[in-house]
Amino acid sequence: MKIAILPGDGIGPEIVDQAVNVLNALDLKFEMESAPVGGAGYAAHGHPLPEATLKLAQEADAILFGAVGDWKYDTLERSLRPEQAILGLRKNLNLFANLRPAILYPELSGASTLKPEVVSGLDILIIRELTGDIYFGKPRGVRIATDGAFVGEREGYDTMRYAETEIRRIAHVAFQAAQKRDKRLTSVDKANVLETFQFWKDIVTDVHKEYPDVALDHMYVDNAAMQLIRAPKKFDVMVTGNMFGDILSDAAAMLTGSIGMLPSASLDKNNKGLYEPSHGSAPDIAGKGIANPLATILSAAMMLRFSLGLPEQADRIENAVKKVLAQGLRTPDIYEAGTTKVGTVEMGEAVVRALI
Ligand code: NAI
Ligand code: MG
Repeated sequence: MKIAILPGDGIGPEIVDQAVNVLNALDLKFEMESAPVGGAGYAAHGHPLPEATLKLAQEADAILFGAVGDWKYDTLERSLRPEQAILGLRKNLNLFANLRPAILYPELSGASTLKPEVVSGLDILIIRELTGDIYFGKPRGVRIATDGAFVGEREGYDTMRYAETEIRRIAHVAFQAAQKRDKRLTSVDKANVLETFQFWKDIVTDVHKEYPDVALDHMYVDNAAMQLIRAPKKFDVMVTGNMFGDILSDAAAMLTGSIGMLPSASLDKNNKGLYEPSHGSAPDIAGKGIANPLATILSAAMMLRFSLGLPEQADRIENAVKKVLAQGLRTPDIYEAGTTKVGTVEMGEAVVRALI
C-alpha cells in the first residue's frame, strides 16, 4: 500500500511530520512518498498542484494532507493560489463524501462554549456531500433580470442541483457509516421549500430500503442548526448537501473547543480518500512549533480505518491521543490552568510513546 504525503505550507509540514512519525511507529508495511502542494508546490514548481503531485495522489491508496493557504501567496492570481490545490485534488479524485467527526474528549470539556451537560461525551459524525449542490451548479453569474419584480436591474444567481447518482452515492456512504456506529442517521434537507431537497429526501428514503437495520429520520436544516446547539448529543450520523454541510460542520466543530482537534476524510466511491485536519495552514503560528498536531494524527487514524482497512490500528492511534490528553499534555490552543503546555513536537512524541 502506498500513502501520498502532502504536507502543504504554513503549519502543514510541522503537523504532518508528527503524523508520519506516528504512522511509522505502528510498524506496518506501507510505503510513504511525499510531494509539495499549495504554497510549497508553487515555490518548487510554479503551481499549487504540480503535475507530479497530482499523479502521486492518483496512484496512492490514500492521501494524508496537511494544510495550504500561506498568506505570502495571496497576491497571486486565483488559479495559482495555494487553496486551488485542495479544490483541484477533490475535483480530480472525485472525493464527494466529506466525513467530519465531532468528538469532545472528556479532558477538554472545559474548552467548549456550551455547558458541560449539553456537550460532554459528544461523539457525532457529519457527512457532507462535497462536489455538487449550489456551489458547483450552473448557470451562475450576474445578469440583467428579465422577469420578477426587479426587471431591468442587475441580479446575482446560482443554481442548486443534485443528480440522482450524486444523492444515492452519498446516501450509501452515510448508511454504511451509520451501520458501523449507532445505526441512526439523520438526513438534513429543506424539502419544505426547495425542489432539490424534496428530491434529496425522496432518494435518501429509497436508499434506506437497502439498510433496514439503520433508523432514518429527516430534519429541516434550520431545525438541525438549532438542535446542534440545543441538544447535539441527540444526533449520531448526519448527512446533508454541500452548502448545508459546510455550515453545520463548522458549527459542530466549535462545539468541541478547538479546531486543532478535528480530523476529516474526503472519500471517493471506492473509499479511497484524502485525510486532512479541518483547519487551515494557520500562517499566524507557522514556524513557531506550537501548532496542535492531533487533528492531523487523528486524520491518519481515519485513513487507516476508512481507506486502508486497518481499524485496530486506527483504534491504537485514537487511544494514544486519549492517553496523552489524560496525561494533561496540551498545546496552547487547548491549554487550561493546571495542565502541561507542550509544543508540536513534544505532543507528537508523546502520542508515539502512548501507542501500545
Ligand atoms: P486556520 O484554520 O488556518 O486558522 C484559524 C485559527 O485557528 C488561527 O488562529 C490559527 O492559529 C488557529 N489554528 C488552526 N489550526 C491550528 C492548530 N493545528 N493548532 C493550533 N491552532 C490552530 O484558518 P484561517 O486563518 O481562516 O486560514 C488560514 C489559511 O488557511 C487561509 O489561506 C485559508 O484559505 C487556508 N485554509 C486552508 C484549508 C485547507 O488546507 N483545507 C482549510 C481552511 C483554510
Ligand atoms: Mg467551511
